[in-house]
Amino acid sequence: MPTPGNLILREAYQPLAYGVETVDLDFNLDPQATVVTSRLKCVRNPDAAAGPVVLFGEALELVSIAIDGAAPAEGQVRKTESGLEVNVSADEVVLTIVTRINPSANLTLSGLYQSRGGFYTQCEAEGFRRITYFPDRPDVMARYTVRLEADAATCPVLLSNGNLLETGTLPNGRHFARWEDPFLKPSYLFALVAAELSALERTVTTMSGRDVLLQVWVEARDLDRVEHAMDSLIHSMRWDEEVFGLELDLDRFMIVAVSDFNMGAMENKGLNIFNTKYVLANPDTGTDLDFENVESVVAHEYFHNWTGNRVTCRDWFQLTLKEGLTVFRDQQFTADMMARASDSPAAAASARAVTRIANVRGLRSGQFPEDAGPMAHPIRPDSYQEINNFYTATVYQKGAEVIRMILTLLGREGFRNGMDLYFSYHDGQAVTCDDFVGCMAEANGADLDLFMRWYSQAGTPRLKAEGAWDAATGTYTLTLSQSTPPTPGQPEKLPLHIPVAVGLIGPDGADLPLRLEGEANAGDTTRVLNLKEASRSWRFTGLAAEPVPSVLRGYSAPVILEIDEDDERLAFRMAHDADPFNRWDAAQRFMERVVLGLAADAAAGRKLEVPQAFGHAFRALLVNESLDPAFVAETLALPSEAYLLERMQPADPAPLRAALIHLMREVGQAMQADFLGRYLDLEVEGEYRYHPADAGKRSLRNLCLRYLAAWGGPTAIDLAAKQFEHAGNMTERYGALAALVQSDAPQRTEALAAFHDRYRDDALVLDKWFMLQATAWRWSDAAPTTLDQVRALMANPAFSLSNPNKVYSLLGGYFKSNAAEFHRPDGAGYAFWAEQVVALDRNNPQVASRMARALEGWRKFTPEIQARIRVALEQVAATEGLSPDVAEIVGKALG
Ligand code: ARG
Ligand code: ZN
Repeated sequence: MPTPGNLILREAYQPLAYGVETVDLDFNLDPQATVVTSRLKCVRNPDAAAGPVVLFGEALELVSIAIDGAAPAEGQVRKTESGLEVNVSADEVVLTIVTRINPSANLTLSGLYQSRGGFYTQCEAEGFRRITYFPDRPDVMARYTVRLEADAATCPVLLSNGNLLETGTLPNGRHFARWEDPFLKPSYLFALVAAELSALERTVTTMSGRDVLLQVWVEARDLDRVEHAMDSLIHSMRWDEEVFGLELDLDRFMIVAVSDFNMGAMENKGLNIFNTKYVLANPDTGTDLDFENVESVVAHEYFHNWTGNRVTCRDWFQLTLKEGLTVFRDQQFTADMMARASDSPAAAASARAVTRIANVRGLRSGQFPEDAGPMAHPIRPDSYQEINNFYTATVYQKGAEVIRMILTLLGREGFRNGMDLYFSYHDGQAVTCDDFVGCMAEANGADLDLFMRWYSQAGTPRLKAEGAWDAATGTYTLTLSQSTPPTPGQPEKLPLHIPVAVGLIGPDGADLPLRLEGEANAGDTTRVLNLKEASRSWRFTGLAAEPVPSVLRGYSAPVILEIDEDDERLAFRMAHDADPFNRWDAAQRFMERVVLGLAADAAAGRKLEVPQAFGHAFRALLVNESLDPAFVAETLALPSEAYLLERMQPADPAPLRAALIHLMREVGQAMQADFLGRYLDLEVEGEYRYHPADAGKRSLRNLCLRYLAAWGGPTAIDLAAKQFEHAGNMTERYGALAALVQSDAPQRTEALAAFHDRYRDDALVLDKWFMLQATAWRWSDAAPTTLDQVRALMANPAFSLSNPNKVYSLLGGYFKSNAAEFHRPDGAGYAFWAEQVVALDRNNPQVASRMARALEGWRKFTPEIQARIRVALEQVAATEGLSPDVAEIVGKALG
């Protein structure tokens, strides 16, 4: 087990002396004493240095081990800190290992554990070694057969990877099933489920004409919430066939939903196991956002079957090889699905932009803070203490941005050719990021050597854009410069290859055809400039008047763009930028400037006043009925507090919150008639359907309601209360509740109580209820503090510290999405944080570590705040028996 200071290095990779060819597993399932018998055919690796058979094991009771059927000789099996070493001289050996484990006591939710009476596994990254002794590394790929035996009454359904071979009944009320996975796989893709579940089933025909059985397994009472997950799975299969020519390779594909799960979902071969949050959704329980999330997570795990499973990672430093690529694929899928549902090319373009905006919002509020703090790491890290800490926004989201840049550089066809080559070379192998980029380069005759720096350099690059207009020659010179701030272990940074999509807007607001110096004709209105050096200039010629530059269109690279634009220019781009992403970004930049200005005023005790120019630009978008409502909702939604705190120097949550409250109140009041008008016009008629056009209207309607409730006039509160009462679906009900919670109206309490009563037995819906209260702003000083409410909510019978979803909603909501309340000046938030992190760590280090990360960015705050946070960090760091997970986070934070 990795201990603090026990650093694992990427450069230290060595293949194991012995790999495994076949694995035969037998599980005798019992809540307290499950017996696992494993038969491993181990084979010497000719490419590796000589050595023993290395097996990892954690929290295991070793019952017996036999070597080629015989008891080991004296000293042949050695216990090590991480497991066992077996000395053998033959090139091939069969090990038979019997272990005993206690699933009911396994609260880590890693390995084999119980949830609501059933048995489930989670093996990525290193959970398999908690089931049996095994060379539990992704570069050990083997063929598996599995026999499961369990109580037939409590566990009528027995599932594992691949194809079902046989089932049968046994004495004493037990039964069994045998499964075989025809494909080579690493142990992290092993899975079993034994529980009382029901399935929605469909049979579909793949592109080559094979019939395959699809199943979504849930508790019987949830069967009315699985249709959407099934549809999403079928859409994902079709999309991967059409876009990448990739077909499902099994006769059966299963999704299982489980309530206790550390992450979102897991791509086990043929047996994906999901957090219920990303499977279950029907109109009464799921919002439009939930429907969207189910669709993208189902797609993500399905797409892993090729990008992750058929071709996997050589070692965990290569995690972005499968995760960055698969997030990229699920993002492309979502954009295509949104576009496909649109009824015009313009609507499709807007729908794509809305998807892109959501992706970039996630990157800015989740990944930018990580890249600016003590956990900053390249998408392919160089070292780690605990691999579970590296399932990060950097590896996933920034990793996806890096793949997207490859697409930008190579084009659709070139990218597809690179993917085809990747599968032709590496199907069935465990490979590296270099192998992937190598295929992209080879298939296109492209030079991606410089581009590889994106894999090795951490930190968010700053891209500076400066324009110079020469009226005499009609030439506009755009100078792009880059720099990346130092990050832990990387004091000096080198220039990256940054694709910068650029357009020039004429005085009438229309895009200008672009002609670079030396070109005969003007061409497209958006061009990708390849910045490869610290600084470089481009000259655009043949221009009649000074243009307004629109830089980094579509967010063509994961950088922070620094460009000097006054209010007038931002308003101009908010009104005219032909690139919808940049039009949205102009609005975000304007809001950021206004909010940070107000926050500075609040900190200095000055009077807060929203600039008029901002109000005009905001209102122009609000009342523009020719724009897609989903897009308008995005442009008028404030940047996240997490992102704003990164932009504020030094970060200070209290004045920031004061600024946000002031802005929402002022804007809500000043534009109440416009908000109300749009609200009334946008009502969606008819029965609920999850469709981007309807979802867009609901989204803008709910946004109008939030601004109105922030203003707080009686008409506004009535409107929200009425929507809450008459809502025909969760999106409207939740939208109304979210508006009421973000106000100091008395109806707030009534609505919260009514919501709780209606969903008192519905764990997933109650997560929303916990989350809303944990993240609510305090609109009046008379209201109870959020900390008091969170503590009270922990006593609610529906809350449990051992259920990750509950922890993420209530504690995660408070620690990560309510800065002003969490960072209260008396430090009580931090003391509570320390108490909860230590309590969680005793049972579930992965969940504890995710909560611990809420304070890693503490050095961005004011010195007074830092001093208070340090106390809490040091207290946790000094705790005896801390997991490596939490130890790494607080150690790096304090280091
Ligand atoms: N591979 C999963 C995914 O699709 C993530 C599972 C990671 N689990 C963990 N405990 N580290 O993204
Ligand atoms: Zn994944």
